[in-house]
Amino acid sequence: MDNEIRETEFQSNVDITITKRSRDVEPPGPAPKSLEMGEHSANFYVMYLLTHLSGLTLVGLMISWLVQHMGGFSWSDASQNSFFNYHPLFMTIGMIYFLGTSTLIYRGARQLKKMPLKIMHAALHFLALLFAAIGLYVVFENHAVKNIPHLYSLHSWIGIATIALMVLQYVIGFVTYLAPGMSMDIRVTIMPLHRFFGLMIFCLAAGTCLLGLTEKAIFSISDYGKGGSSSGNLMNLIGVIMVAYTGLTVYLTSETAYRRKTEEEQTPLISRN
Ligand code: HEM
Ligand code: HEM
Repeated sequence: MDNEIRETEFQSNVDITITKRSRDVEPPGPAPKSLEMGEHSANFYVMYLLTHLSGLTLVGLMISWLVQHMGGFSWSDASQNSFFNYHPLFMTIGMIYFLGTSTLIYRGARQLKKMPLKIMHAALHFLALLFAAIGLYVVFENHAVKNIPHLYSLHSWIGIATIALMVLQYVIGFVTYLAPGMSMDIRVTIMPLHRFFGLMIFCLAAGTCLLGLTEKAIFSISDYGKGGSSSGNLMNLIGVIMVAYTGLTVYLTSETAYRRKTEEEQTPLISRN
């Protein structure tokens, strides 16, 4: 009875009480069949593929818009649009595509063991933060050389709040689930909060990007208000695909049928290393 653990997880407003044996060591061999989703499997993988395709389309269209309509990319002069353009590029790849990919990793790569999944989740979030740091450096530098005041817009306020929450979530996630020593009780208690704030940060990032796109359209697309602008229409399409990618990712992450189900697997994922 010593190694028997009772834990309660809250998901979809339903309390699930699970009684199981705790293990420090993963079993050898491939992950058990029961990690699969049975009749939900085909639905999941079709949606998962669609989600990745929409994410890649989003990044591709963003690059194409910035190159064709906004002056392309160049590091040489921080006062130019071609320098500023790295801001939306790095933010979209980091805070949208990498963040979404990392969020889905536990469900999309469910055949892998717990530890590699945790490391990939942490590494992709780290990459997201790195890209965000470069994107922020670019826009602060661009404002500084052009003597534009810092942090005057709603976009920048929500953006800074999003990045602050992301850093906090990363530190808490790292200390709780990757670094050794945190008690099982705390790991289990924090997990619903970790899930909720993770998805909230992702939605905030998408909202920040939509605000940024709208601002950019007002500043830089002279015929945006007249309708029929090809640059404006492409930018609108980018916003729509961003919403679709975010919606699909949140759906796949909150649908209980698509979750890794095996209790034996689930517990060590949030417990020991
Ligand atoms: C999560 C993603 C994003 C974050 C956290 C973010 C954050 C910020 C911050 C903090 C500033 C203010 C810099 C300063 O005051 O010196 C800024 C400026 C700006 N950003 Fe973003 N941004 C993001 C995505 C985007 C995207 C996708 C676009 C699309 C073009 C964009 C367009 C702009 C524009 C036009 C400005 C200059 C005007 C202003 O200060 O509001 N941003 N961004
Ligand atoms: C080193 C940092 C981090 C570690 C070690 C970590 C660890 C974990 C673990 C162990 C899970 C449980 C997966 C499961 O039981 O299904 C999880 C889930 C999750 N994490 Fe993290 N996390 C970290 C950072 C972050 C960050 C920065 C975010 C978002 C901003 C985030 C968002 C999420 C989300 C949305 C889930 C739910 C995934 C699902 O239900 O399939 N995590 N994380």
